[in-house]
Amino acid sequence: MRRWKIDPARRDWPDTPELEAALADLLAGRLLAVPTETVYGLAGDATNPEACAAIFAAKGRPQFNPLIAHVDSFETAKRHGVFNEDASALATAFWPGPLTLVVPKSPESTVCDLATAGLDTVALRVPSAAIMRDLASGAGVPVAAPSANRSGRISGTTADDVAADLGPSLALLIDAGPTPVGVESTIVGLVDGTPRLLRPGGIPREDLETVLGHPLAGAATPQAAGGHDAAPLAPGMLTSHYAPDARMRLNATALAPGEALLAFGPTPLPGQEHAVAVEQLSSTGDPREAAARLFSALRRLDASGAATIAVMPIPREGLGEAINDRLGRAAAPR
Ligand code: TXA
Ligand code: MG
Repeated sequence: MRRWKIDPARRDWPDTPELEAALADLLAGRLLAVPTETVYGLAGDATNPEACAAIFAAKGRPQFNPLIAHVDSFETAKRHGVFNEDASALATAFWPGPLTLVVPKSPESTVCDLATAGLDTVALRVPSAAIMRDLASGAGVPVAAPSANRSGRISGTTADDVAADLGPSLALLIDAGPTPVGVESTIVGLVDGTPRLLRPGGIPREDLETVLGHPLAGAATPQAAGGHDAAPLAPGMLTSHYAPDARMRLNATALAPGEALLAFGPTPLPGQEHAVAVEQLSSTGDPREAAARLFSALRRLDASGAATIAVMPIPREGLGEAINDRLGRAAAPR
């Protein structure tokens, strides 16, 4: 695995041999780890079934779980998906950014069936991370990229976490430092006339509802949407996900002996002084800061060897919805 360090603030890669080599890897069907504003992506050519198969194999991901196709612009997205009025409004308001739109796949789309797991819909995203957009436009193909972690485990938000999880599967790891948002993109489904929140994420629900002018519906059951059991609507909704080795105890009001602590806000938890390890998500109680730190904090607490990670309550407003969603999955029975 080669490792290439970039400065996302200075966009210091156009016209470099490293970018040329990355494009060559992508077009040859090899896998790259690419930073986005949300989490690192395990990236491959979305039009190449062998590259997509390699992504599933590297992640150990069930093959019915489809991949997000990253493109450079809304214009390109419209070649791959059919955008109704609501979909266009959301794309215009939030792209580039941490929003994924699931729309009907257009007949001319070159995204391969393996990437969409055989569904007649496609998940499209224009990330604000310029490196991902430059790869997609330079290669002239959509880039399939699930979060860069083994399936069901904690998403990678730093290059070192990604190297530890997936290093041997990668031709290239692009290191842009820690990802700024820290939780994955929000996923909205726009396939049956009703916009549905399939996964809370980096764009808060409230902001989407302001643009739509009405509340977002929840995910329909796969049956209601005409799907089949093996094709969950947003299979990130598989219950146990983002799982550390330690047991998770949510909404802790006191710390028990032997536990590690995931803290939030200025008020110490009773018993905190006996914690095996402590990670503070945000001492001022800021959900944005907490989201950006969430996954790396969980990894460090897991590495402390504590059998249980106690988590302080985190309000559900704004990015708090996505944070509570990920914590709930990390705590789910496995
Ligand atoms: O922030 C993100 O979204 C990151 C970065 C790398 O872009 N990617 C990411 O991908 O989180 P992944 O594969 O870990 O999660 C994508 C989710 C999965 O739960 C998948 O089931 C859902 O998107 N998805 C993809 N295509 C879909 C489709 N056609 N219909 C419904 N859900 C879909
Ligand atoms: Mg994931």
